Amino acid sequence: MIDDYIEFTKKVKQKLGIDLQLYKETQMKRRLTTLRNKRGFPSFIIYFDALCNDEMLLKEFTDRLTINVSEFYRNPRRWDVLKDRILPMLLQNNGRLSIWSAACSTGEEPYSLALMIKEHFPAAAVQILATDIDELVLSKAQQGVYTEQALKELPNPLRKKYFTKTGSLYKIDDALKKDITFKKHNLLADRYPVHVDLIVCRNVLIYFTDKAKEAIYQNFSNALKTNGVLFVGSTEQIFNPNQFALNLADTFFYQKQ
Ligand SMILES: C[S@@+](CC[C@H](N)C(=O)[O-])C[C@H]1O[C@@H](n2cnc3c(N)ncnc32)[C@H](O)[C@@H]1O
Repeated sequence: MIDDYIEFTKKVKQKLGIDLQLYKETQMKRRLTTLRNKRGFPSFIIYFDALCNDEMLLKEFTDRLTINVSEFYRNPRRWDVLKDRILPMLLQNNGRLSIWSAACSTGEEPYSLALMIKEHFPAAAVQILATDIDELVLSKAQQGVYTEQALKELPNPLRKKYFTKTGSLYKIDDALKKDITFKKHNLLADRYPVHVDLIVCRNVLIYFTDKAKEAIYQNFSNALKTNGVLFVGSTEQIFNPNQFALNLADTFFYQKQ
């Protein structure tokens, strides 16, 4: 019998261009089975037919594919290394930086970058490309409104300086938006940018199969300028960076050879 889930992943790829087979199967299948059962469909094939005929179901499904949790200065020690070592090194020979925040979710990461550079390297000219596969999170990112939880690692003086509090919500200073371009991008299918100085891609590679990860590392390496840096999440170290023409620059930072 043809595997119901495999058949579903093929149809989803045709319809949405999202290849579920490149995400770790047990994890993804468990999440999607829970959602499918919640909506009362006995098989993935029946669920797929329903997705094709119901916009709301389809939207719920694409939202569930992605886990969107993020926060400002997530893993703050790593952001200190970025500020104290990596950014000064990248700015040494060049006052302009091209930065890509890939899988940026609701914008905490690109705004953290914009804020850090404005605060500590005010003379630097930066362009930040902020991308995600999920359009809903990108529109939230553009609004730039956050709860206290998202700001918990951000030092208080920065919170005061760059946010306006209304009720329980914090709105980011519009001036920080001018260097950021938000755009939809699928790491598993779309063309990558080129001549990038710094790629920040954190807490998404964990969801992908080893094969998909390797293709992404190679694409990141190709996207970086010589001496450019890839900053990954705190559970996402690359075991054989040399294979992708990358050297370890600091824990969770890799420099293009
Ligand atoms: C847990 S969030 C990480 C947010 C941020 N980078 C951080 O570390 O706080 C994972 C993000 O990856 C995105 N994502 C999942 N699959 C993707 C893909 N194939 N291409 C681009 N983004 C993807 C999700 O939409 C989600 O916003």
